[in-house]
Amino acid sequence: MMHCVTCSAPVNIAVVKYWGKNDETLILPANSSVSVTLHQDQLQAQTSVAVSHHFEKDRIWLNGKEQCINNPRIQNVIREIKRRARKRKVSSRDTDTEKLNWKIHICSKNNFPTAAGLASSAAGYACLVYALKCLYDIDGDISAIARCGSGSACRSIHGGFVVWNKGEENDGTDSIARQIQPHTHWPDLRVLILVVNEQKKHTGSTEGMQITMKTSELLQGRIRCVPDKVEKINQAINDRDFQTFAEITMKDSNQMHACCLDTYPPISYLTDVSRRIIQLVHHFNRSCQQTKVAYTFDAGPNACLFLLKKDVQRFLHLVKQFFPPTTEEKDFIRGKTEELTETVSNGNEEDRSYFPLDPVADSLKYIIYTMPGPGPQELPPDQSLLDKDGLPKTLS
Ligand code: DP6
Repeated sequence: MMHCVTCSAPVNIAVVKYWGKNDETLILPANSSVSVTLHQDQLQAQTSVAVSHHFEKDRIWLNGKEQCINNPRIQNVIREIKRRARKRKVSSRDTDTEKLNWKIHICSKNNFPTAAGLASSAAGYACLVYALKCLYDIDGDISAIARCGSGSACRSIHGGFVVWNKGEENDGTDSIARQIQPHTHWPDLRVLILVVNEQKKHTGSTEGMQITMKTSELLQGRIRCVPDKVEKINQAINDRDFQTFAEITMKDSNQMHACCLDTYPPISYLTDVSRRIIQLVHHFNRSCQQTKVAYTFDAGPNACLFLLKKDVQRFLHLVKQFFPPTTEEKDFIRGKTEELTETVSNGNEEDRSYFPLDPVADSLKYIIYTMPGPGPQELPPDQSLLDKDGLPKTLS
């Protein structure tokens, strides 16, 4: 007998960033954060979890390769899920309690290249926790369990617009994520991810925020001003006020990266290409006499841009002028390309006096065109990544 569940979960992008922890084991953040969950049609993690009395040991495969399951974060997640399931199962059927003692096989993959440097661990842990919740039939909040895998993963438990409250309790019980608004609340909001052509290995976010926490004086000032930003961006989301949403998003990204530079030794995630994207966005906004595009950067050089559907074509046209692609259009722009129907004619060339930047070819790998989307979902059994023996289908 084997019980198997398959789920999918989304990536999220913070607009008020999480940077710094008060507790490394429980993953309690130094400040609250706010994010937008991205649509799973473009970016998604998929995970199958199976339990059987035939399995000899717990095993995990990530993107086709077997990994060590003794990773403390994975262990914390499994332990916490089982604790919650046991608590609930006291009065339920014997078979359910028995299932909790069986060994587990986990198989997970992303539908986007991990090399793209996107927040794959958030989607991965959210997916694992959601799949385990379905397998063991747990109810109540599971974001606090996802948080124990990776802080930002707690926000991927919900779709749409999400706040992760830092919480006040020492045991982390109130450090949970909740939805501010569903993805359908702002139907014309769009997202462009500009994947920068750069191979450099960066300091991981776990390590990076640890050093910032220890050495940056600026971070203390940042932590003090986050509550006000969270309140204001929450209101801007509720009101669909793009100008305020965009300004808070850009300023918060700049502030997080300023704290990274204030870290000793300094950490710089942004590259020359990232900085050119920042300039281009500001030049574009100035030329429109309105804030029409916002950027935000995580622990890497890729830009995540927010804008409204009506402005996407014009802005993309400009991006292609300043970062001329060396690949074909269909490879350069991926995702919701069905929305790119108008041909922007040469007559629409932007006034170069607003854009005192020289074009630099081949500095962007590709662009992902997406939008806000829903939270994790359970998938039908035919989409399982595990075969009838509980082994990855790709290996069988
Ligand atoms: C820059 O969630 O990856 O993306 O909790 O140590 O696993 P750990 O860190 P992680 O940090 C994400 C940092 C960020 C900002 C954000 O997503 O809020």
